[in-house]
Amino acid sequence: MKILVTGSSGEIGTNLCLKLKKEGHEVFGIDKRKNSWTKDFEYFLLDLSQRFSEFKNGFNQIEFPFKPNAVVHLAANAKVHELVKNPLKAMDNIQLTFNVLEYCRQNNVPIIFSSSREVYGDIHRFNTNEQITDEKKADFKFTESPYSASKIAGEALIYSYAKCYNLPYLIFRFSNVYGRFDNDLERMERVIPLFIKKINKKEPIIVYGKNKILDFTYVDDCVKGIYSGIEKLVSGEVKNETINLAYGEGQSLLNLVEYIEDNLGKKAKVSIGKTQVGEVSYYVADISKAKKLLGYNPKNSLSEGIKKTIEWWKERGDLSL
Ligand SMILES: NC(=O)c1ccc[n+]([C@@H]2O[C@H](COP(=O)([O-])OP(=O)(O)OC[C@H]3O[C@@H](n4cnc5c(N)ncnc54)[C@H](O)[C@@H]3O)[C@@H](O)[C@H]2O)c1
Repeated sequence: MKILVTGSSGEIGTNLCLKLKKEGHEVFGIDKRKNSWTKDFEYFLLDLSQRFSEFKNGFNQIEFPFKPNAVVHLAANAKVHELVKNPLKAMDNIQLTFNVLEYCRQNNVPIIFSSSREVYGDIHRFNTNEQITDEKKADFKFTESPYSASKIAGEALIYSYAKCYNLPYLIFRFSNVYGRFDNDLERMERVIPLFIKKINKKEPIIVYGKNKILDFTYVDDCVKGIYSGIEKLVSGEVKNETINLAYGEGQSLLNLVEYIEDNLGKKAKVSIGKTQVGEVSYYVADISKAKKLLGYNPKNSLSEGIKKTIEWWKERGDLSL
């Protein structure tokens, strides 16, 4: 297969492009940043969030090595709290999704979109006492943050392109993906690498939300799910579906801290803070649709995933004090 991946310098993009190459496929990335992890695949540097009318020559400025069989659209400003502080970045997410969709429409290429568990919001679940989230439960009235809004808008654009232009799609809703290529903390402060770094350095950590329960996904499981989705979308076996990709189990942040402590052999200095504005405090995915449609079978529980993640840090020499 020939696959175009936007956001190819990010955590999921880097892991996905390497997996596609390893499996013998052709892959080409687009990102506005250089890839700081690997030189093992080709990509083009481009900011995709410019307004289409001012987007000088649009996608025509890119010398594509091939016409893709599918586009995996991962590029986004992906940090919830940062978008609460700067909602313009949420608008950029909508614009860049529009641009990528236009490319897909004009070239008749199916799209895979990276949505988020954020589309389920928070309040909705607490009002209804539902513990597990299946795909039908998303409701835009319960949008928690500008980031969630940008993902809901992205999904809506894709549904409209499927209706009006017959553009085939898959939408994946990811949840707390962690593992390899996510510890560039100066760019993205994600909870797992942040806690690993701080606990290792014996620095204090703040757990925002003592009772917060989230569904953490080891990146290899996430990438396997996307990979299977690409194969099935390209073959036509599965299309026009919205699918949760997560591990399917809720874990508290305090459990997470324990797993990190065990693997580092160090005790964390924990204080508890309030859940931050815009953040979801409870999410457990129903992954039965992914299992049924894609044969998805995530292998790494949080404790196993944390072990692998810390081994990866150690191999890279990122865990010195
Ligand atoms: N990692 C997670 O836990 C998670 C959870 C839910 C959804 N998602 C979504 O999955 C996708 C990939 O996530 P990730 O963890 O790899 O994020 P990431 O931040 O590591 O990667 C996103 C990449 O998109 C690029 N990008 C941003 N704006 C761009 C623009 N205007 N033009 C070109 N490139 C641009 C960034 O430079 C970055 O390399 C994102 O859309 C994110 O919202 C991720």
